[in-house]
Amino acid sequence: MTETANADVRIVATGLYTPPNAISNEELVSAFNQYVDKYNDANAEAIAKGALEPLQKSSAEFVEKASGIKSRYAIDREGILDISRMAPRIPARPNDQLALLAEIAVFAARDAMRAADLKPADIDGVICAASNMQRGYPAVAVEIQDALGIEGYGFDMNVACASAAFGIETALGLIRTGARRILMVNPEICTAHLNFRDRDSHFIFGDVATAVILERADGPAGGEAWEILGTKLLTKFSNNIRNNFGFLNHCEREDGAAPDAQNDPHTDKLFIQEGRKVFKEVVPMVSELISGHLATVGVAPDAVKRFWLHQANLAMNEFIARKVLSRDADRTEAPVVLDEYANTSSAGSIIAFHKHRGDFAAGDIGVICAFGAGYSAGSVIVRKTA
Ligand code: COA
Repeated sequence: MTETANADVRIVATGLYTPPNAISNEELVSAFNQYVDKYNDANAEAIAKGALEPLQKSSAEFVEKASGIKSRYAIDREGILDISRMAPRIPARPNDQLALLAEIAVFAARDAMRAADLKPADIDGVICAASNMQRGYPAVAVEIQDALGIEGYGFDMNVACASAAFGIETALGLIRTGARRILMVNPEICTAHLNFRDRDSHFIFGDVATAVILERADGPAGGEAWEILGTKLLTKFSNNIRNNFGFLNHCEREDGAAPDAQNDPHTDKLFIQEGRKVFKEVVPMVSELISGHLATVGVAPDAVKRFWLHQANLAMNEFIARKVLSRDADRTEAPVVLDEYANTSSAGSIIAFHKHRGDFAAGDIGVICAFGAGYSAGSVIVRKTA
């Protein structure tokens, strides 16, 4: 566990890119159920003989009740809803074109740079912190840096859904060792790693990109500013959320065939999870992390105006907030964006922070907390200064 408690670095802006296409639960479930009918019809004989289990239908009511999710944004709607495909259609781009993951990060970065009135020359480095990188190398962050015209350096990091908190901690370290400003981006094309044929998880994720700009707090801020009172990180190995996609895939299949994300029976190359176990194990881990962190920094839970939590499951966030506060939190104290965005992995807590902080006055304190696969979790305590 690492912990820091200094207010020498501040957040001066956030940015958001939301894809233009949304998919409601009803639309997603309707496509899934058509696929189920088609599968069960095609396999009617085997099912009648008891040789094959029929697929079960999904339900929009279940999805909203179990997760709080009502809708999600997607880079490509049609491919996901096309029952002969059930995956977004994302054409490969030539190497001399900006990669899609870099492109959505650049949109979010420009939004943040505009908000703080910063030019590329004001930024010294770029961190791309996300769950799913588009490629092994060159680092996506270096491409984002180039597209924005930022001097200095860029690098990628992945701590799954907790990536933004780990990215903030890393930016803090870079600023303490000399950088003036760091841009930290979280582009997430989560729909591309989701198995839309899996009833248990087909509704979970959405696509988005967020950006955070941090700077050394050694003078008056030019505009809005949030001093970082402390950061605290924690990881604990678990197989309950996992994605085995990687560069060894084409070497490891016994039949020697290359992986085919479309029809591959090796579905663990896509997102898999034991949702119930995750719920049970992550809630105590995260609530203890936040409570312990607040105690270390000397902030009473009731002095926290807002908890901008990772957006995976509504009940999970309600439990975490209840454990930290020893009472129920209302939607103002623990805002919800997953109803509209679904789980956007590393970006979730930053979307919540981006959209729900306008009512803060100087001196008000909030907690950004990201958590997910690893398990991994990070808490960032901020106080508005200007
Ligand atoms: N439609 C209708 N019913 C469904 C369904 C669907 N799409 N998916 C599952 N069900 C059924 C199951 O078959 C099960 O039925 P049974 O009780 O007859 O066996 C029942 O609903 C409950 O399934 P379960 O998987 O236990 O649901 P849940 O209440 O745990 O909710 C999640 C599922 C995934 C929403 C929830 O566990 C969750 O969000 N966990 C946290 C995950 C998390 O944070 N992950 C981080 C990822 S980064």
